[in-house]
Amino acid sequence: QSGKFTYDPGFMSTASCQSAITYIDGDKGELLYRGYPIEQLAVQCDFLETCYLLLNGELPNKQQKDTFTNTVTRHTMVHEQMQFFFRGFRRDAHPMSVLVGTVGALASFYHDSLDINDPAQREISAIRLIAKMPTLVAMAYKYSIGQPFVYPRNDLSYSANFMRMMFGNPCEEYKVNDVLVRALDRILILHADHEQNASTSTVRLAGSSGANPFACIAAGIACLWGPAHGGANEAALNMLKEIGTPENIPDFIAKVKDKNSGVKLMGFGHRVYKNFDPRAKLMRETCYEVLNELGLQNDPLFALAMQLEKIALEDDYFVSRKLYPNVDFYSGIVQSALGIPVSLFTGIFAMARTIGWIAQWNEMIADPEQKIGRPRQLYIGAPRRDVPSIDKR
Ligand code: SDX
Repeated sequence: QSGKFTYDPGFMSTASCQSAITYIDGDKGELLYRGYPIEQLAVQCDFLETCYLLLNGELPNKQQKDTFTNTVTRHTMVHEQMQFFFRGFRRDAHPMSVLVGTVGALASFYHDSLDINDPAQREISAIRLIAKMPTLVAMAYKYSIGQPFVYPRNDLSYSANFMRMMFGNPCEEYKVNDVLVRALDRILILHADHEQNASTSTVRLAGSSGANPFACIAAGIACLWGPAHGGANEAALNMLKEIGTPENIPDFIAKVKDKNSGVKLMGFGHRVYKNFDPRAKLMRETCYEVLNELGLQNDPLFALAMQLEKIALEDDYFVSRKLYPNVDFYSGIVQSALGIPVSLFTGIFAMARTIGWIAQWNEMIADPEQKIGRPRQLYIGAPRRDVPSIDKR
């Protein structure tokens, strides 16, 4: 991919910003991180290499990768006081509510990295957020099941550390399974960034006012929580469980076609992709690898999902509306197979997207021309002249 991409003026008139981080071609089903195809990055790189690429613009060489990995690893612990924030939540609080609260609270511990005009402080904020998200997500899970928090370890990879913090406990050592760790790493890569989606635009708008990066990421987490966005993986799995068996697919499809039902085919459709979401194909392959590794290749939900996808892709209702599986359609099944509870799916999405959010935030803050975001509106109310006294209303 040499040279610049060219856009039609119509597209440019709707663009909210310019960025060199991620490129999507919705018609071709193409996704590039810093110019590299997602299909190659997801297979040849690990998540921290992808984080380095998104943040710095180039893939790291061996020495840069080791230094970056070492720095992130040594920031995976959170301040010991952070544990007390969890105690304020109900045990059954949705993990996304816990993450909005605890990530925002990180700002109260890192006054040495809140001057967003200092590139070094922006970098250490990015490192802290990349490093601490897995710890906070795992802490939210442990708190919800009443188990003690498991501290990160410096001798494990990013994804292995997370799996151990999630599923390890003081009574028995967690056995790292490299296939499952590799699958999680790929899930994180596939979710790392996606141009100006709703949550990234939220982070940019919050950051444009000069708010600190921890508060901006907390705002992104809040936006991602919505079922039309990051909450879709949770909704897609619940949808598959509701359908139950392949025999029920025709009735469900009929319900989706009935506009009055308000039922959507969760994990299908996209604001930008009007072709296959390239991440969906990679997620389906990862799903198959994990289920194979676990001896679950006959997993009924996976079989149901593939059957539903096949039927939908042959149905003119979906084809005519250019509705194809998106990244969320299979991610729920593979996360379930990894032992991740449904309520935590969007938390994993937030953990992965933190690098995309903070890289885009950094790109915006580093631009000396950037100003506070200020979307305008089309006023559809009616101007009125005289305020009536209360007895005349
Ligand atoms: C993500 O922006 C990003 O990049 C987001 C994301 C990222 O990485 O950040 O990719 C992550 O959010 C993926 C999307 C996850 N959401 C879902 O899977 C929820 C289900 N999908 C839909 O809610 C919907 O497809 C949206 C919200 C994703 C897009 O909605 P749009 O813009 O309304 O879709 P559209 O304009 O392409 O719709 C065309 C038609 C409409 O019907 P008509 O008015 O033409 O009759 O298709 C219908 C829509 O109502 N439609 C669906 C549908 N999605 C759109 N009908 C049934 N099931 C669906 N899933």
